[in-house]
Amino acid sequence: MNNKFRIGVLGSGKGSNFVAIAEAVAAGKIPAEIAVVLSDVETAGILGHARERNIPAQYIAPGLYRTKLDEAAEHAFVAALQKAQVDLIVLAGFMRVLKGDFLRAFEGRIVNIHPSLLPCFPGLQSWKQALDHGVKVAGCTVHFVDAGVDSGAIIGQSAVPVLDNDTPETLHQRIHAAEHELYPRCVAALARKEITVEGRRVIWK
Ligand code: GRF
Repeated sequence: MNNKFRIGVLGSGKGSNFVAIAEAVAAGKIPAEIAVVLSDVETAGILGHARERNIPAQYIAPGLYRTKLDEAAEHAFVAALQKAQVDLIVLAGFMRVLKGDFLRAFEGRIVNIHPSLLPCFPGLQSWKQALDHGVKVAGCTVHFVDAGVDSGAIIGQSAVPVLDNDTPETLHQRIHAAEHELYPRCVAALARKEITVEGRRVIWK
């Protein structure tokens, strides 16, 4: 089945969004194949979840920096994704900012999920930012990745109420649950080519 839409997933953490997407693929809800899973963290749960499902999974050392890939690592990630012939790169908790060469290699084909209703609260611990700000509605956003931080065109969003007795942990949990529904839905639409981009506006057919 070489003409199947091929997905590469990058993650640094436990990989619950990856699991949600892999389950949606297995259930036939996403017409695609997960071709490869890559991580910059050797012990990341996402690699174990991939291997359990017989999906090729590889750790690639990120190199010298803390928040981005160094040049050699960037080349290694790009090469692995090209070798796997991916049509779409799904960032699922990948904790490094992607830079020029990587973005150019896969222009318009990289998506991310962020735990806030962007453009509010980009960056780290968005659920805590939301709580500290006092917003009554939080949520999550799936967006295309561009050169900024959490700044690309928005594909889909899901709202989550903020409750009076929420702690950062309870709000984070509720947002995470919403992510597991939103991300597979957006990836399915991308795999079905039901999405077009007009400037910053992403249109669902
Ligand atoms: C999610 O909260 C996502 O919004 C953020 O990273 C987290 C990844 O969680 N980008 P998991 O590894 O998918 O469980």
